[in-house]
Amino acid sequence: MRIEEHPILGAPQRGRLITFTYNGKPMEGYEGEPIASALRAAGVMVHRYSKKENKPRGIFCAIGRCTDCVMIVDGKPNIRTCVTPLTEGMNVETQYGISGKRKEGSA
Ligand code: FES
Repeated sequence: MRIEEHPILGAPQRGRLITFTYNGKPMEGYEGEPIASALRAAGVMVHRYSKKENKPRGIFCAIGRCTDCVMIVDGKPNIRTCVTPLTEGMNVETQYGISGKRKEGSA
């Protein structure tokens, strides 16, 4: 699910291939690309679940203006993954509600 060649922009410039984790699972992406891009390339569409209705959210604006792509990154919640560069060894987790992880016993 990556753009390999764009008719106007040509081939994308990429950093080196690195590893990170998504919910504890090892994954690969290109250094410096948005976290959201690496996740999308791996087929991950849901980044967080809304607080009130527990609805799934993913990339919406892709320019850092909404909050649909926020996730927990290296233990910090509310990180906009569409504008945050991927680095080696990052720990990326699905966010539940405003600031956290899924509570024990919840669906
Ligand atoms: S998709 Fe809107 S801030 Fe990332």
